[in-house]
Amino acid sequence: MLFCFLKKKFMCFNYFFLTLQLRKTHKRSKMEEIIKQHIEKIRQISSATKEELENLRIEYLGKKGVMNDLFAKFKEVAPEKRKEMGIRLNELKQTAQQKIDELKALAEEKAEQNQVKDDLTKPSEIVSLGSTHPLTLVRNEIIDIFSRIGYTVQEGPEIEDDWHVFSALNFPPEHPARDMQDTFFVENGREDGNDVLLRTHTSSVQVRTMERMKPPIRIIAPGRVFRNEAISARAHCIFHQVEGLYIDKGVSFADLKQNLLYFVKEMFGEDTEIRLRPSYFPFTEPSAEMDISCTICKGEGCNICKHTGWLEIMGCGMVDPNVLDASGIDSKVYSGFAFGMGIERIAMLKYDVKDLRQYFENDIRFLNQFSGAF
Ligand code: DAH
Repeated sequence: MLFCFLKKKFMCFNYFFLTLQLRKTHKRSKMEEIIKQHIEKIRQISSATKEELENLRIEYLGKKGVMNDLFAKFKEVAPEKRKEMGIRLNELKQTAQQKIDELKALAEEKAEQNQVKDDLTKPSEIVSLGSTHPLTLVRNEIIDIFSRIGYTVQEGPEIEDDWHVFSALNFPPEHPARDMQDTFFVENGREDGNDVLLRTHTSSVQVRTMERMKPPIRIIAPGRVFRNEAISARAHCIFHQVEGLYIDKGVSFADLKQNLLYFVKEMFGEDTEIRLRPSYFPFTEPSAEMDISCTICKGEGCNICKHTGWLEIMGCGMVDPNVLDASGIDSKVYSGFAFGMGIERIAMLKYDVKDLRQYFENDIRFLNQFSGAF
């Protein structure tokens, strides 16, 4: 109470002081100066209680308030200065009105919040839930499928060296993948030849795992990879792969085929078939490309499979003895297979995604399609 009283007194004094200044000088410029000071004073107010707000209104817009007083004095202003002074006066009035409106809205919002806090029977606000990204869904499903037959997950760095991405994987020095056009280099042309680069495939994790672990090794390595490619509906400079590796005594191509057939049936359905076509990779011998029967037309022939009835989904093969030896595994004792697939490609087939760029644009309309997919 006392505080309010003093505050009001103070405001009156303030006003009195400003008006006194005006009376004393009787100069138009002084009136302008006073208007300016009032405007500044109002602008500095950032919050007010209901009572303070009402006082502010009375102080400026009330009958005996600043505005009416200044308008009364306006008559004394010389005719040639009137237009400009009128504009300044209106500016002050508008500033006061706007500030009052703004503080009022703020106070109302606060009151509403307090009310919600106080009323414990009110339903809580609806929280909008996000959904798991399709690439994460597919990655998790791949991990799940392989973990059921004994594969564990391994990871490796995204910023790699030449040894783990190329040299240990049997890439000849003049291989085009080592070219600037395909690879993002962090440090190129190092004296020791072991350039630093962004990994172009997750096969680098094969090497790191073999360097670290003794057979039997049965791992998958999901992760992000980088290639210097123009972005289009079918290619991106950042994408995701899953690498697989199985090393033990007596591992054969038949084991590779059986593991992949199991994976495909789990991922795309029991009636899905596979075929292996001879191919070439520096790190596998023999190498193959694996196709699955078209998930859309079931092998009949459609636009998606370009009327072949087959869709290519991964590369694979028996780990080249040079790779085993380079990674510290005796190729005379052990053998193994490896495979690698693109997660985007698998997700495209699984969810009928037509444009690769959609995975990275974070368009909520696209992402929402996958809520509750699993
Ligand atoms: N690293 C290959 C790529 O990025 C994929 C790949 C092919 C991985 C054959 C393998 C493999 O392990 O055996 O295109």
